[in-house]
Amino acid sequence: MKYSNVTDGIFRLSAHIHDLLFEGIWPLPHGMSMNSYIVQGKEIAIIDGVCGWDGVPETLFRQFEERGLSVQDIRYVVLNHMEPDHTGWLVPLKQITRGFELVATPKALRLAKSFFGLDESFCTLHPVKSGDRIDLGKGKVLRFEEIPNVHWPETMATYEESSRTLFPCDAFGSFGAIREEAPFDDQLSESELAFFEEEAVRYFANIVAAFSWPVKKALEKIDSLDIRVLAPGHGIVWRKNPARIVELYRRLAEWSTAPTEPEITLLWAGTEPSMGSLVKAAVDGALGEGVPIHVHKVPDTHISYILPSVLRSSGVILGIPYSSDPLPSPLAH
Ligand SMILES: [Fe+2]
Ligand SMILES: [Fe+2]
Repeated sequence: MKYSNVTDGIFRLSAHIHDLLFEGIWPLPHGMSMNSYIVQGKEIAIIDGVCGWDGVPETLFRQFEERGLSVQDIRYVVLNHMEPDHTGWLVPLKQITRGFELVATPKALRLAKSFFGLDESFCTLHPVKSGDRIDLGKGKVLRFEEIPNVHWPETMATYEESSRTLFPCDAFGSFGAIREEAPFDDQLSESELAFFEEEAVRYFANIVAAFSWPVKKALEKIDSLDIRVLAPGHGIVWRKNPARIVELYRRLAEWSTAPTEPEITLLWAGTEPSMGSLVKAAVDGALGEGVPIHVHKVPDTHISYILPSVLRSSGVILGIPYSSDPLPSPLAH
């Protein structure tokens, strides 16, 4: 991977992960990107980080150098979110720097201490709350907004005022690795954008959906910002039409309380001879009424694909052989 220019004075560093279960649960058949952002004023800030897995921190350090910068010059490390996929690199980073200020909410700093033993002996701790700002010089100003419980309690978003760039970390992110030469929405075809939207729905359904109410509260705060660029911790950067992913998230969060899509999800177990005719009848019936129907055989289909399907559907049909005991996962839940 190479670094990329997001906008004037803001650069994106990125590493891809493949061939593993994200968080030990979620398959990544199309990989996943881990994004980190440099904001360069007179001082340099790095926003969000990456995991500490083999080669990942080193990939970012190399991109930093390729940009003509030295990691020694980092003044601020901004932690929007303490989950280890964004913080595992902190200890390797510290080992090659003279020191930096760790900028995060007080809750995040407490977590940083208990996770990694990061305290004042490690680096300068710089707690921030909503509305606090850091002036990096040369017109670059970071402003912070707490968005708790999206999807951890310490979460915040960072907004760069001059470029109107929002760094929301996991919010608005997606599974799916980006193409190195096309990390921005303005470089992608409509089908590629649709792919990242589907992977954003899968990410939301699996990781964030239980926190839909805090997401709604976060959206209320984000709505007050003029966002020209939206740069999440996973997936593509939205700079042509950031409202597109914001509105998708709004719809996803609404699904927790408001009517969902006029669609059906059919989950079935068993064998083709015993269940096939019933599944076919259900599909024919739905399609005959003009209702889209998503069919998943369990346990063959991974639950990470079933959850977004169930989340979006107004109706769910379970097709289970009379003799099924115990019920196959996930029907048992
Ligand atoms: Fe997270
Ligand atoms: Fe993440």
